[in-house]
Amino acid sequence: MKLRVLVTGGAGFIGSHVVDKCLEAGYYVAVVDDLSTGKLENLPKGVPFYRVDVVDADGVNEVFAQVRPTSVIHMAAQISVSRSVRDPVADARVNVLGLLNVLEASVRHHVDSFVFASSGGVLYGDVYEPASEDRPLAPVSPYGISKLTGENYLRFYANEHGMRCLALRYGNVYGPRQDPFGEAGVVAIFIQRLLSGREPVINGDGKYVRDYVFVEDVARANLLALNSKCGGFRAYNIGTGRGTDVNELESAIRSAVQKVLGAESKRVDLPLPRHGPPRPGDLRSSILDCTRAKVELGWAAGVPLEEGLRRTVEWFLSHKESCANAGAL
Ligand SMILES: NC(=O)c1ccc[n+]([C@@H]2O[C@H](COP(=O)([O-])OP(=O)(O)OC[C@H]3O[C@@H](n4cnc5c(N)ncnc54)[C@H](O)[C@@H]3O)[C@@H](O)[C@H]2O)c1
Repeated sequence: MKLRVLVTGGAGFIGSHVVDKCLEAGYYVAVVDDLSTGKLENLPKGVPFYRVDVVDADGVNEVFAQVRPTSVIHMAAQISVSRSVRDPVADARVNVLGLLNVLEASVRHHVDSFVFASSGGVLYGDVYEPASEDRPLAPVSPYGISKLTGENYLRFYANEHGMRCLALRYGNVYGPRQDPFGEAGVVAIFIQRLLSGREPVINGDGKYVRDYVFVEDVARANLLALNSKCGGFRAYNIGTGRGTDVNELESAIRSAVQKVLGAESKRVDLPLPRHGPPRPGDLRSSILDCTRAKVELGWAAGVPLEEGLRRTVEWFLSHKESCANAGAL
């Protein structure tokens, strides 16, 4: 049977790449998004789109009645850790109540598999060696707490209703279409600053290690999760197992920008980075052990950091016009 996939948050950065992969696989795909951070231009023409807030239970039900999905990929979320600290209620409204509305509609409409965008970066706390899924979970921010709560609800819906529920715990996702305005998304922010002749600002000493994973690899993991045979609830880390600190990342981005601009015979005169104050509450290190995804889903990250950065720089360069109009470059 052809899969009918509903992607919530599908007009966003990661969601739109998931939509692309679903179309490549020949699935029917529809998108729910309130466009609070997502953009319609991220979506290929012709994809059925419903501008609905997932907090609106009736609106969500109406979409399910029209789309009749067999599978749901739930990406819609409030994604800012610092906003969650400032306003935990607003975070929980979208990330907990919004998720519950989508889970309830999924049960009512007999959805077979439900894939949830979780976060390895906020669930494990500081980890200096790759953390496996069995590591005790210790979220410190309301955003982390709402992602963990989401996973716990998935376990409940799997047990109670027999729906296959998978949580994918991403590392730091980067790639084309990432928003360079946000406070997260350091790759997009640094590329945007370098391309517009402004110096990248490294928080504190820059010795903050993260597991950077390319967005197309993440989208592929979502499709494998949709098709996995696992029953009940299961969580998977989705990263590379490799840590990179912000100083190393900045220099890798700088050489990617240099290479891409050099190949286009453009003048390469990039401003040097400067160090700003440290960001309060930032973890020192977060790296994911992705053995379980390899063994059970047949997934491993395929795009090395250098190649992913080059492809991201090329994308930002080819969209310089539209980013400049939006005030980004
Ligand atoms: N980017 C990362 O590194 C990362 C890491 C871990 C987890 N995640 C998770 O992956 C998912 C996608 O994140 P992203 O980086 O693509 O961010 P994004 O902001 O680009 O995507 C989120 C999408 O959800 C939509 N949305 C937000 N609130 C909504 C609501 N109430 N109703 C309907 N739609 C709503 C937004 O308009 C946007 O299109 C999120 O759940 C996020 O928490 C991202």
